[in-house]
Amino acid sequence: MTSRSLLLALLAGMLFSTPLTALAKDPMLIKFSHVVAPDTPKGLGAEFFAKRVSERTNGQVKVEVYPNSTLYKDKEELEALQLGAVQMLAPSLAKFGLLGVREFEIYDLPYIFDSYADLHKVTQGPIGKSLFRKLEPKGIVGLAYWDNGFKSFSANTPILMPADLKGKKMRIQPSKVLEAQMRALDAIPRVMAFSEVYQALKMGIVDGTENPISNLYTQKMFEVQSHLTMTEHGYLGYVVIVDQKFWEALPTDLRGQLELAMQEATDYTNQIAKQQNDQDLESLRLSGKIAIHVPTVEQRRAFKKALIPVHQEMASRIGEDLLQSVYRETGFDPTKL
Ligand code: LMR
Repeated sequence: MTSRSLLLALLAGMLFSTPLTALAKDPMLIKFSHVVAPDTPKGLGAEFFAKRVSERTNGQVKVEVYPNSTLYKDKEELEALQLGAVQMLAPSLAKFGLLGVREFEIYDLPYIFDSYADLHKVTQGPIGKSLFRKLEPKGIVGLAYWDNGFKSFSANTPILMPADLKGKKMRIQPSKVLEAQMRALDAIPRVMAFSEVYQALKMGIVDGTENPISNLYTQKMFEVQSHLTMTEHGYLGYVVIVDQKFWEALPTDLRGQLELAMQEATDYTNQIAKQQNDQDLESLRLSGKIAIHVPTVEQRRAFKKALIPVHQEMASRIGEDLLQSVYRETGFDPTKL
């Protein structure tokens, strides 16, 4: 035997005598990138998912969570997913237009959901599921809807009536519906990545914005906004998405465990979302740094009157049939204020 063939034989011996468990030592890695703080509904949901995946797969799959845009910002993270640089994301519904999928903007329509209960009739029902199919041609699988909460307007002057937003530069997520919403208030919409909002508010590049309380609080935007009005005029939630190629290449048993972990993480996130927002509202109050206004019945009616026409304005973009099916599912009547 030559020394070369001896070496090959040794290597082969080592390989075939290595127990399978040792070979499988390196866990399969899932990078899960997101743009919000760890102590938000999405941040907590992602951590919970990572923990359950590790437990369910005995460490064979590791989910690494990258919060707060540390890996990628809004638009970049979608590109990274399509390039296979990350495997999982949970972008807000307002960001799917960036992928050319407009239908998710239905969730951005102002006042379309009166409560989490109405919203869940859509997200947890057949309409929500059917929208996931729109992601398939993009090489993306939609796994679950995760809640955050209802958005409210903030600025550096009081916002009591729609006219108070006139001429204000308002940061929005990249959604045509949100653009139309701000225009309906005679405000000037400015699309901006989430990671840039705090600085933009601080420097006066924009005058105000809209957020669920958990985002306003954890990004410390209340330090650079003196007035918040609890308009709760629109919903902000997420779809957890995964790279289809990666997902389909997973061994069936592991994928099954990941699906179960996702169901658990979804139940958990949707249970804590409201609680987390309520808790952050209390912390905002205690901070004493921002005036919090709760609209009167008349003020709320005035916002609805100004904003509900956005539904019809956007119907051709989102799909009239889809809009009507959401109305039927929730019992929403656009003629009633
Ligand atoms: C935003 O950009 O305001 C949100 O989509 C951030 C988030 O992920 O909640």
